[in-house]
Amino acid sequence: LARGTAAPDLAGRHVVVSAGGTREPLDPVRYLGNRSSGKQGYALARAAAARGARVTLVEANTGIPDPAGVDVVRVGTAVQLREAVLKAAADADAVVMAAAVADFRPAVYASGKIKKQDDGGAPTVELVRNPDILAELSADRALPGQVVVGFAAETDDVLAHGREKLRRKGCDLLVVNEVGERKTFGSEENEAVILASDGAETPVPYGPKEALAETVWDLVLPRLRPAT
Ligand code: CTP
Ligand code: CA
Repeated sequence: LARGTAAPDLAGRHVVVSAGGTREPLDPVRYLGNRSSGKQGYALARAAAARGARVTLVEANTGIPDPAGVDVVRVGTAVQLREAVLKAAADADAVVMAAAVADFRPAVYASGKIKKQDDGGAPTVELVRNPDILAELSADRALPGQVVVGFAAETDDVLAHGREKLRRKGCDLLVVNEVGERKTFGSEENEAVILASDGAETPVPYGPKEALAETVWDLVLPRLRPAT
């Protein structure tokens, strides 16, 4: 099918997608961040909108302009992302966590810029764990039959780590990327295996993030609760 003429197979559905990478402030001028570009999440949001869904995109620090026909909520930190996603998920048929959520945040936020000490030493930054949003969404479904999808980027033993993560998170689908040169961070292309809680494993060949997005929705579709 040509672009813009996709079957409206998600019409009447509300889907939530998170995208980008959270930033955890250390002081007014510094943060702990990651290299997620947000491109995969935006591709997912655009694809769902083209297939007729109402889409809420919760984005963290991407700098990408709002896609047409998508409700965009902008957040900064993991705690803010959690709040926005849980709120949007209350009436959602599916939630896709494509965002790279910081696992840790600084235990204290310094309200003034941290300055160098005269003794030549360096400060120690204490970190605390952030909430695991995907695990929480999966454990406490806002609606019966809500489909929850996670992403994982792994460097080695990709499938073994992916299968273990799918079980640990309790989501329905886990899109597992192998991180390497050309792949994933900031690139236009992606290669993945999509693992399902029912044991199905769908390889997605190296290609544009748009193609992976369509495959994700193809796999979400048969798992959605009956339309109301
Ligand atoms: N995720 C989340 N909340 C977190 C961390 C991750 O919702 N605090 C989500 C991500 O959006 C992604 C999935 O969980 O969809 C997997 O993220 P990943 O970092 O691979 O999982 P972790 O459990 O943090 O494992 P690791 O120790 O390998 O980072
Ligand atoms: Ca992590």
